[in-house]
Amino acid sequence: MIVAIDGPAGCGKSSIASMISKNLGFLYINSGNIYRAISLYAIRHGVGLDNAMGIIKLAGEAVIEYCSDGSISLDGQTVDRELRSAEVDAIVAQVSAIPEVRITVNSIVHKIAEGRDSVAEGRDMTTVVFPDADLKIYLDASAETRAERRFKQNDSGMTLEEIRRNIEMRDKIDSTKAMGALKIAEDAYYLDTSCLTMQQVYEKVYSKSLYVRDTHGQ
Ligand code: DC
Repeated sequence: MIVAIDGPAGCGKSSIASMISKNLGFLYINSGNIYRAISLYAIRHGVGLDNAMGIIKLAGEAVIEYCSDGSISLDGQTVDRELRSAEVDAIVAQVSAIPEVRITVNSIVHKIAEGRDSVAEGRDMTTVVFPDADLKIYLDASAETRAERRFKQNDSGMTLEEIRRNIEMRDKIDSTKAMGALKIAEDAYYLDTSCLTMQQVYEKVYSKSLYVRDTHGQ
């Protein structure tokens, strides 16, 4: 069974997907981390955004291993902290916009999920990667709300206004990609989380997941 969750940056999908997968006993797949691992690999090899062919080649060569808690190893090394670095943040949106890189990541995600009950989150899990997912969820929130949530985590040192501008820029890139653009699937359960606590969002998504799991295959 596949639960696919999409939504814009900062809408809480990673936290919700991770909690849901733990409680269902499913594998948690964070597809954004795979784009981040490829970006890190490109940085380590000195290949910049001006060399898309080089990035495509490296994406095919990188040995990316995925642990059930969503953590990632790159060429046998755990890289979770590096995936969140400012250097990776600066290029990952553009790396993820390269169609050939998306094809590579989609096939990695399919391989990870093969034969395993999974909760997969990202931007195109409900539309491109798992169009036949058993449950599709689209989590949303206004840019202001998402910026405020990020600001409260306060791990970047940026002002609220800088965070909001950064989120709006990422929304624009996410929604205008030639392939894998962020869209609300017609058959997705849409949830605006702007006025909800994380616990309330979790309860809504979890109860939907339980219902689908318990009626799965009937
Ligand atoms: O969710 P995140 O911020 O860690 O994702 C990193 C980048 O990858 C972000 O620019 C959006 C992009 N992404 C994507 O294009 N498609 C996905 N399925 C997941 C992430």
